[in-house]
Amino acid sequence: MSEKVGSAPVTTDPDEAAAVLAAGGIVAIPTETVYGLAADATQPMAVERIFTVKGRPSDHPLILHVADTVDLHDVAARVPDTAQRLVEAFWPGPLSVIVSAADSVSRLATGGRDTVAVRCPDHDLTRSVLRRLGRAVVAPSANRFGRVSPTTPAHVAEDLGGDVDLILDGGRCRIGVESSIVDCTVDPPQLLRPGGVSAEAIEKALAQRLADAQGPVRAPGMLESHYAPSCRILLEADAMRARRRVRDEVASGRRVELLDPQVTEEMWAHHLYEWLREADGRDLDLLVVVPPPGEGLAAAVRDRLSRAAAGR
Ligand code: TXA
Ligand code: MG
Repeated sequence: MSEKVGSAPVTTDPDEAAAVLAAGGIVAIPTETVYGLAADATQPMAVERIFTVKGRPSDHPLILHVADTVDLHDVAARVPDTAQRLVEAFWPGPLSVIVSAADSVSRLATGGRDTVAVRCPDHDLTRSVLRRLGRAVVAPSANRFGRVSPTTPAHVAEDLGGDVDLILDGGRCRIGVESSIVDCTVDPPQLLRPGGVSAEAIEKALAQRLADAQGPVRAPGMLESHYAPSCRILLEADAMRARRRVRDEVASGRRVELLDPQVTEEMWAHHLYEWLREADGRDLDLLVVVPPPGEGLAAAVRDRLSRAAAGR
């Protein structure tokens, strides 16, 4: 039986979640990256509701989530060698591949495109829901458009409240930032969004360099301003200068804090969205952030921070 957190019913029962999805409902699901807002990809009305609830433009494509690596072949018109290598190396895990979409994939889910992003999340509870449903779900992050992604059931309830039919409680997300997105329809493949799998690990699995990310925004939704809390964010790579900036701002009467945690890149990613939410909760005018240096997850954290700093 489900309980309620805020105005949203919460469960830990995969059968209940699968039943709500099968009936055309929308369910917040846990993954190893962030919570997703899921709908049965074959039900147009359910998919449309995802766009409405998120306030997301209808041409922003969604990621299909599948239970197993083999399921990629059901939703892809063709699986390039590069995509096959990547899913064998990293699925289940925080990596989405873009491939040409099978005719059976709703163009509502792909934002009208003939390509589709697919991933197999590394979360047993969610994979058991997908197996029970027997179909892929679409699942964007379970936040309102442009806002900070949720990493706990409470975050989902805060942001979406009664607009979701059910929250599947799988605890706190292990990684904390979204999947890496690799476009495998081009050669060499291109990294469209840095995320849970590092560019270095992707290149190693491909035995090939990724194409430079350049040109027009290839992944719609990767807008500059995104992942944004309501308080202003200022990035300062130099810790001394960041401290000086905080002192000056405080001296002029503003509510300012410094975010410069001396933690590993894993902890940075794990807590990033929670820290941004908490800064909002304290009603700050400004949060001065010293981003983590280095590759891997640190690159994903810097990407999200620079989008958050771009404001809304
Ligand atoms: O970790 C994740 O990937 C999370 C969890 C819930 O799985 N999901 C997620 O979904 O981050 P969302 O909707 O917040 O971000 C999806 C991104 C968007 O930037 C979108 O433009 C891009 O994927 N995308 C999806 N399909 C695409 C396609 N066919 N071509 C280019 N970009 C695509
Ligand atoms: Mg998102």
